Amino acid sequence: MFHPNHPRAMPQNIPAKTINKNFMKTSSIIYWFSGTGNSRSIAEDLANSLGDTKLASIPLAIKNNLEPAERIGLVFPVYAFGLPLIVRRFLKRSSFAGAGYIYTVATMGGLAGSVHREARDLLKRQGADLAAGWSLAMPGNYPALSNPPPPEKQAGLFEKAKQRIAAIATKILRGATEIYEDTRLPLAWPLAFVRHMGIDKFPDSDEKFNVGQSCKHCGVCAKVCPVENIRIVEGKPVWLHHCEQCMACLQWCPAQAIEFGSATVGKKRYHHPRYKASDFCLREE
Ligand SMILES: Cc1cc2nc3c(=O)[nH]c(=O)nc-3n(C[C@H](O)[C@H](O)[C@H](O)COP(=O)(O)O)c2cc1C
Ligand code: SF4
Ligand code: SF4
Repeated sequence: MFHPNHPRAMPQNIPAKTINKNFMKTSSIIYWFSGTGNSRSIAEDLANSLGDTKLASIPLAIKNNLEPAERIGLVFPVYAFGLPLIVRRFLKRSSFAGAGYIYTVATMGGLAGSVHREARDLLKRQGADLAAGWSLAMPGNYPALSNPPPPEKQAGLFEKAKQRIAAIATKILRGATEIYEDTRLPLAWPLAFVRHMGIDKFPDSDEKFNVGQSCKHCGVCAKVCPVENIRIVEGKPVWLHHCEQCMACLQWCPAQAIEFGSATVGKKRYHHPRYKASDFCLREE
């Protein structure tokens, strides 16, 4: 049996969550999803640049009605050249049709694929328009494929992102449209194929996680998991197969006790330097 939060356990006829158009109290809101802090830092800095902008975490917001807002931003990482599964579910289950201006900002290691087009298509299905989508290069956080960049390169990426956020905020305030920073053709085609082959395997791919002897039984891995995909049994994590592959459990483990198969053995861990693990224990706030 699937866990109730497992995407495949979701009933198909969930009523769309709606924005009450008569109750536009918040003029600007940013919904964010983040495993290791890159997207969260961008969401926070963008909110500061825009001014008068509320922040809401997608893993918490997905369970409630949408906050009414005239301008809605969605900030998240690129996964497998497209949207994280939780962002897909958020866009499918919530109605954005009443918002005046919707934009996306994707953080990535280097290749956006069709992430903004995917968001645009999902929004279009419910009669909402994606005005613009920007992609920001940040340190890669997928240790199964590579180590994070060295500290000096990370600092360079953060500085460049800071400058871009200021420019993006100006464009958002001016109501910019028709900017979609996806990967262009012909490279977009093979990337779409790779995504098609891999994305449905994400929920069960947590079978590859294993925990070593250095585990301190602290429970942090379960607390930072954005979708409650980890249960602590006899002091150690057990994965429940509705995984987002965000790598938060592996990256935030204070003992570096979690590995993803053999691919992560000996690889450096990464999280954005602004945050500590407790900042990502969202359900304890
Ligand atoms: C499962 C997974 C898949 C990823 N796929 C891509 C990708 O297709 N293209 C890319 O440029 N970066 C990819 N990345 C890197 C992240 O998008 C990037 O590091 C992002 O800034 C992480 O954001 P976060 O710290 O908010 O979680 C991937 C990371 C993970 C964990
Ligand atoms: S975070 Fe690491 S040390 Fe703590 S319980 Fe999980 S695996 Fe063990
Ligand atoms: S189990 Fe780990 S990788 Fe999967 S969603 Fe939870 S924190 Fe992310």
